[in-house]
Amino acid sequence: MEIKRLIKNPVKDAQEYWLPKIEAGLDEYTARCGALHPELMNAMRYSLLDAGKRIRPLLTLEFCRAAGGDPESAMPFACAVEMIHSYSLVHDDLPCMDDDEMRRGKASCHVRFGEDVALQAGDALQALAFDVMLQNDTVSSDRTVKAAQVLAHSCGAAGMVGGQVIDLQNEGKQVDIETLRRMDAGKTGAIIKAACLMGVIVAGGDDSLMNVAETYAENIGIAFQITDDILDVAGDAMTLGKPVQSDVENNKFTYVSLLGLDKARAEAARYTALAVEAVAPLGSQGEFFVAFAKMLAGRIN
Ligand code: IPE
Ligand code: IPE
Ligand code: MG
Ligand code: MG
Ligand code: MG
Repeated sequence: MEIKRLIKNPVKDAQEYWLPKIEAGLDEYTARCGALHPELMNAMRYSLLDAGKRIRPLLTLEFCRAAGGDPESAMPFACAVEMIHSYSLVHDDLPCMDDDEMRRGKASCHVRFGEDVALQAGDALQALAFDVMLQNDTVSSDRTVKAAQVLAHSCGAAGMVGGQVIDLQNEGKQVDIETLRRMDAGKTGAIIKAACLMGVIVAGGDDSLMNVAETYAENIGIAFQITDDILDVAGDAMTLGKPVQSDVENNKFTYVSLLGLDKARAEAARYTALAVEAVAPLGSQGEFFVAFAKMLAGRIN
């Protein structure tokens, strides 16, 4: 007799459906990127494929679906976000940044390929993200340009890169909670926000849905980095696939260093609750996002 799933798990369902498609997209886009040297191609694919939770592309696809679009058409955009994210990780691990030797369960890109190639692989993944989005042949030019602009703004000085510089410039310093929030909103929140907004843009969603996506993303973005900071202290390197205690070694200012573990956990829960509240207007269409925010808050990797 067939065993029916009694409890619906929208996150698991979405992951089962989308993750193989995301992997196939990333594989295909990198395979035909035209890299001029095999070592560059290897380093790009090494850092992008076969690992990673793919939370950002999932958000793009699911927000496209929630906005009434065809999520398949959002695939180049979803893969582009993951390329930007993976490039940020390659650079984040470099000796001049966090100097971490493990990523996604294997040697960091610069450990495996050398700093010179790792730097270029990160740069090339960033460029490929825009190449892939702008080459798509299913989404209108207007929407494509708008989505690409959102990602460009989010990954640069006003977003991820800006946040990373706040992080680096404040190693070993006392920072107030407002600076910490601004740093996390930049280095981690901005790409997550872009992922959500791009899904809505590709679908042609209206302003009210853009606002829902924005508020949801801002709150899961901060919660995500607080949880990352907690796992750096209380997590397990094998499960995480990256080193623990990296933040303490680098004298980073984090929610854990500022508030301690318990209050950091309470803050992550508070931001998660705000995210859940943000998607209430979506009703049953928001089920995935509620479950996803809760899953992220309870994650162990
Ligand atoms: C890690 O991101 C870096 C942060 C922005 C905190 P993820 O935890 O999403 O890393 P992967 O993609 O699953 O490896
Ligand atoms: C990373 O923050 C943010 C970006 C990569 C943009 P962390 O430095 O805390 O990320 P992990 O812990 O190395 O993954
Ligand atoms: Mg870092
Ligand atoms: Mg790091
Ligand atoms: Mg971290």
